[in-house]
Amino acid sequence: MHEPDVPSVDYDVSASAPSDVSADLLCVPVFDKDDALDDVPGADAATGGELGRARAGHEFKARAYDVFVTPTIPGQWKARRIAFVGVGERDGATAERLRRVASTCAYVARARGAAHVAFLLRGGVPSDRFAQAVADGLLMASYDEAAYRQQSDARPKRLERISIVAADAASVDAVTAAARRGRVIGESVNLARALVNEPGNVLPPRELASRIARIGAMAGLSVDVYDENAIRERGMRLLQAVAQGSAEPPRVIVLRHNPPNAPASPVIGLVGKGVTFDSGGISIKPAEGMERMRGDMAGGAAVAAAMRAIARLGSPYRVIGVIPATENMPGSRATRPGDVVKGMNGKTVEINNTDAEGRLILADALVFARSLGATHLIDVATLTGAVVVALGKHVAALFGHPDAWVNTVRDAAERAGDRLWPMPIYEEAREQIRSEIADILNSAGRPGGAITAAAFLREFAGDGAWAHLDIAGTSWAETKSAHQPKGASGTAVRVLTEIGMTGGRTDPR
Ligand code: BES
Ligand code: MN
Ligand code: ZN
Repeated sequence: MHEPDVPSVDYDVSASAPSDVSADLLCVPVFDKDDALDDVPGADAATGGELGRARAGHEFKARAYDVFVTPTIPGQWKARRIAFVGVGERDGATAERLRRVASTCAYVARARGAAHVAFLLRGGVPSDRFAQAVADGLLMASYDEAAYRQQSDARPKRLERISIVAADAASVDAVTAAARRGRVIGESVNLARALVNEPGNVLPPRELASRIARIGAMAGLSVDVYDENAIRERGMRLLQAVAQGSAEPPRVIVLRHNPPNAPASPVIGLVGKGVTFDSGGISIKPAEGMERMRGDMAGGAAVAAAMRAIARLGSPYRVIGVIPATENMPGSRATRPGDVVKGMNGKTVEINNTDAEGRLILADALVFARSLGATHLIDVATLTGAVVVALGKHVAALFGHPDAWVNTVRDAAERAGDRLWPMPIYEEAREQIRSEIADILNSAGRPGGAITAAAFLREFAGDGAWAHLDIAGTSWAETKSAHQPKGASGTAVRVLTEIGMTGGRTDPR
């Protein structure tokens, strides 16, 4: 059955000789400096010497993401064209680099209308991590970033088939298993991107919930969707306070992966901000760039997508996903700046800025996730503009306690190919959100905005392990690059999946 928002692409794994691979475009990764392509015999001859000429003349240098495409001499190799793609120097050839190289190559294929792309895994590289990254990268590049554009010539063709070519017959089994993991992860990342890119009118909380519920059920997760009445009954008043300005009712989506023989602990709890549109509420945002706030549910999308991957890959651990979903709109029923609201854990919050809504809904969702049994929490949110100032667009902020859990999350991100950087919460940050009239204030001034937001969440995370990822900078690419289109990036799906698969146990690299 077809999963909505998860485009699938046929793929296969073989150990064919490069000359025997039939595809519209064969991708051959090339390392910078001394790569003589010894394990790809006949490559230069198959191009009629074009490769050698391009390298000698510095037309193709094999720096990361350099591309040189050339036809093959008829009757020599089965592939009609070869794309040599630079990986950069061998030392820097991480799995994440390979993923981007694979995406780059697949975009070259799409731009040329090549529907069947093959990727050659080179000898002498760790085949399982790299094969996973390559499958992931090829899958990601099959994502249709222009879903609402109707002229078919206005966008590059979709990939129809992906072939991964193992370096030798002995590694085919390992590569096949790794490619399957990569495919599930790549599909899940594409799911997150599809949800994040969806316009706010198309994907209000009810629709977000029903799409996630469908995908979750198809992956074998148990799914509960709490409506506005259930939300009220459970005392999630902070979530209600954000939702009440909108005609669209809120939802809380709970996804559970509960394998039969799982250990009682850990129970990983993944919590994702699901603001389907953030106007700022009464503390309304300026018009400039407000359309971007349709992507303010990127944390929720990452949690849903990771839960799908965790279920499909059969994690042996218990994992719970909690996604509070709402709009943040102004209106006569909207929360006023200065209102005081009591959260699910009984703490009172002075809401001095209705645009600091993410922390409000996450506060209730964190408390809720603990009540469902989560022992180790990770929340993910497009939480603050301040994090973009602090860290830019290519690395997300990581907060939490205790240090061991924060380090576990950081290591998992490093292995999986998401970038996180640790940030501190000192006692002064808590002081900044001291309220004169309630237990806590929801927003402080500009200085250290990502930190004060994290300090707020900490008041609701409980004493157990908790990590917070602020992905406001990384969730959206402002411009397209060789390996990624403009728009939703699908960030955090990989690290959450890695944590879900390992139960947060440190996996020796
Ligand atoms: N959703 C925004 C944060 C955001 C900004 C995400 C830019 C993506 C790109 C969040 O709800 C917000 O409005 N935060 C405020 C907090 C402030 C009022 C304390 C901000 O960052 O300005
Ligand atoms: Mn906001
Ligand atoms: Zn927001």
